[in-house]
Amino acid sequence: MVYKKSSGKLFLFLSGLLIISLSYGFGGKNLNELKHKESSKENLSLKNKTLKIYSPSVGEKPAEEVYKNIKVFKGLPASRLLPTMHFIEASLGADCGDCHVHDKVKGWEFDSDAKPGKKKARKMIEMMNDINEHHFMGHQEVTCYTCHRGKFNPQTVPALLTLPLKTEERKDEDIKVANRLNTAGDIIAKYLKAIGGKDAYQKITSLKFEGSTLNEEGKEMPVTIYQKAPDKLLMVTQNHWGELSRGYNGEIGWFKAGQREDKVDGDNLNLLKDAAEFYKNINIDKDYSNLRLSDIVVVDGDTAYEVKGTLSAYLNDKLYFDVNTGLLIRRIEYDNTPLGNLQVQTDYKDYRNVDGVLIPFTVHTAGYETNQTTNFTNITANREIADNIFDMPAK
Ligand code: HEC
Ligand code: HEC
Repeated sequence: MVYKKSSGKLFLFLSGLLIISLSYGFGGKNLNELKHKESSKENLSLKNKTLKIYSPSVGEKPAEEVYKNIKVFKGLPASRLLPTMHFIEASLGADCGDCHVHDKVKGWEFDSDAKPGKKKARKMIEMMNDINEHHFMGHQEVTCYTCHRGKFNPQTVPALLTLPLKTEERKDEDIKVANRLNTAGDIIAKYLKAIGGKDAYQKITSLKFEGSTLNEEGKEMPVTIYQKAPDKLLMVTQNHWGELSRGYNGEIGWFKAGQREDKVDGDNLNLLKDAAEFYKNINIDKDYSNLRLSDIVVVDGDTAYEVKGTLSAYLNDKLYFDVNTGLLIRRIEYDNTPLGNLQVQTDYKDYRNVDGVLIPFTVHTAGYETNQTTNFTNITANREIADNIFDMPAK
């Protein structure tokens, strides 16, 4: 996340960090929200205009009760405000500082309306909702990205040379699949068998991953990850300014960056907890609701079943399983904000056998501001890992 000039601990934790998506169940670093299974969609009135958003889930405060100066996002669950800001950021190619005041002494003053960009953005949100309501029957067809395309100032003149957009997937009605499976249940059963089966997976109680991550700036950093069943995690990365660790011991989540260390709470804690869940891969059918086969597509040259599933009121995933091997080769997470969807795509490659189960040795994650590949050189299972390495280090 581009929290330039930021200093708060939340921002430090989020900025420029990655949570490597080892299993299907946790993903890009912006998957930082609780599961709101209970929430339901409703129309919220907004200065006589209707804005389709979600009602706060049980026990959650609306944005206006948590933040100081909410005018357009009244009624939005507070935890949805930051993903919405990231949607704006990604759509306009903007930084928080383009719309928000940063004081040298006091830090961020997000509630201040001093910057014209913020006032303009409010007007834009109203305009966009107007267009969708009056011209697209209330469907979210036009978003900030439709006009802005990653630029603060939308282009009015077509570019001189338009390069074809890189298509990620090619849909093909006529793709022939031998022994074609017809239900999500069968596809998941095939996947579980392909990775070694639930029994073999459950015999594994700890994992150590060693490798390196190549980020969007072309920098390579070593990474070591320790995982212990059912829910312990330690990730250690090395970047230009030193060592960075994040851990969860089943109870407390923490980070340590150079001399700084702190507990992690809220959405960031949920992110860590999610990442720490050891048996996610074999609980795929429990974590998602409404799993359904939606298409057969070509992903990077391989034919795959596209299975859609719902994780929460705001998170919907597409999972791509290779029709031949049965393995999960891609996952796209969609994070629905009131302005549009954010997406993070994770590709899993180079599955190899580790003590009887198949684990991908290459994980590539691409999001609106992430593009990184982690290559593991060594993954070992069931070696002795002391429990206390997952605890927050003593100061
Ligand atoms: C293009 C302009 C724009 C950008 C870029 C932007 N915001 Fe905002 N932000 C807004 C607007 C507009 C509001 C007020 C929403 C309302 O009135 O309901 C807001 C409100 C907020 C608030 C609530 C403040 C309060 O107490 O009322 C926070 C926090 C916030 N933004 C954080 C961020 C962060 C973090 C980023 C960068 C990731 C960011 N914003 C990027 C336009 C922007
Ligand atoms: C229908 C097209 C369209 C949509 C949708 C749209 N914008 Fe804009 N936006 C424009 C145009 C055109 C301009 C430049 C003209 C102007 O500044 O009035 C602009 C300007 C802006 C600016 C000021 C840029 C500057 O240089 O000062 C901000 C901030 C902005 N838009 C935010 C948003 C946000 C946030 C959204 C989504 C909620 C959004 N826009 C959706 C067309 C659009």
